[in-house]
Amino acid sequence: MKAGKTIYICSECEYQSAKWQGKCPSCGSWNTLEEGISQPKTPVSPKHVNTLGSGRSRAAAFDELDLPEYMRCNTGFDEFDRVLGGGLVHGSVILLSGEPGIGKSTLLMQISSALAETKRVLYISGEESRGQLKLRARRLGIGGKNLLLLTETNIDAILSEYSRVAPDIMIVDSIQTVYNSGIASAPGSISQVREGATAFISKAKNDGTSVIFVGHVNKEGGISGPKVLEHMVDAVLYFEGERRQSYRIIRAMKNRYGSTNEIGVFEMTDIGLSQVSNPSEMLLADRPKNTSGNCAVCVMEGSRPILSEIQALVSKTVFPAPRRTANGIDYNRMCLLIAVLEKRLGLRFSANDVYMNVIGGIKMDEPAADLATALALVSGITDRVVPDDLLAIGEIGLAGECRAVSHIEHRIKEVERLGFKKILIPHRNIEKLKKRAGNAELIGIKSIYEILTVLKPVKEQAEE
Ligand code: TYD
Ligand code: MG
Repeated sequence: MKAGKTIYICSECEYQSAKWQGKCPSCGSWNTLEEGISQPKTPVSPKHVNTLGSGRSRAAAFDELDLPEYMRCNTGFDEFDRVLGGGLVHGSVILLSGEPGIGKSTLLMQISSALAETKRVLYISGEESRGQLKLRARRLGIGGKNLLLLTETNIDAILSEYSRVAPDIMIVDSIQTVYNSGIASAPGSISQVREGATAFISKAKNDGTSVIFVGHVNKEGGISGPKVLEHMVDAVLYFEGERRQSYRIIRAMKNRYGSTNEIGVFEMTDIGLSQVSNPSEMLLADRPKNTSGNCAVCVMEGSRPILSEIQALVSKTVFPAPRRTANGIDYNRMCLLIAVLEKRLGLRFSANDVYMNVIGGIKMDEPAADLATALALVSGITDRVVPDDLLAIGEIGLAGECRAVSHIEHRIKEVERLGFKKILIPHRNIEKLKKRAGNAELIGIKSIYEILTVLKPVKEQAEE
């Protein structure tokens, strides 16, 4: 294609087309072709190539390799360290992404300040002015000699300042704002993002500097810019949560230095983010008493049991096909459980709308939440209540059988700690727990037929 002509470039795979098309013929994504200017093909400059080895590497047996020792440092937030796998690894590259206004810059400024106590931190902002950043820093009460701020978007200018300052940690807020003037496309375009990321990563890997990139999200909620960005970094973290609610959750989508199961929970306050080391207490704080359609649940988020509440509102439908909405639990899993309850217990869900919600924006994608979901549904449709001090754990099969779940002892400990007196668990799990000392009563469940017996009429519980 001739250089300087207007063309359309796919934002997912960089496919170029002379005319606009709704669907990218190369990767099949919809609405991703964006207007751009065609450029002469330039070879990748060797200084920005990210390579392993010197070009004369030899193969070696695994037995002969040395075990690396990752040097980690604490970021000042245990919740963030946990998601990283136990702290920030020296020389690692992290991509933190999330919706605008969720608190990425706030979190990173707080982290920078904690890290700056022992390390030299360079915070590069291409989004806000010095004045705005100073105001925020004052609000967060952060500062220090080793926390340096640079407001700049030109990649070469950033790199020369980086070399002068020689930081241990570099934060780029955000990778979509940096640009190389040699490339004609706008900041945030695929070529610019890739150029910026490659330049910073190769420099940082050489010096052993840790880098944290802030990444914007696209319309669909994925990280905008090239997919290769996710391949280039060591960890991809997502910062999520409802902007109108104060809790925020960080999850790892990829982590070369730890597990991707762990989550970190934060709360946005007037003076920045504070970590919530005990999310279950917060999630269960305002539970409604003596109302139908609720059941407490315990799911594992990585190595940590988290308690929340599942709610089901079941009401007579006025539509030809009943409505189903699921918030926090998988829609298809909910439909499956409704079908099982309809078939096995003969409950008429087909005449009712069902709206389900998990408190606190927690996402429950673990089958161990099935039993609590079923209890909330049955309670919702029968208008009988699940006792407030009862919690349910267990997977449900299509025949209505209740199947064993993992980490049962760990879960029970946490459930007891939060004051529940009765715990419904799968029958198979109870065998192992016979000799256990604990103050909650464990009730083994073989199939969903048995759950009807735990429900009580609304009034009866009120009188207790
Ligand atoms: P910000 O960190 O700028 O979000 P992002 O970088 O992800 O776009 O800030 C997010 C929001 O948080 C902003 O709307 C204001 C609010 N906020 C607080 O509630 N308390 C605070 O102490 C700060 C600094 C921000
Ligand atoms: Mg920001």
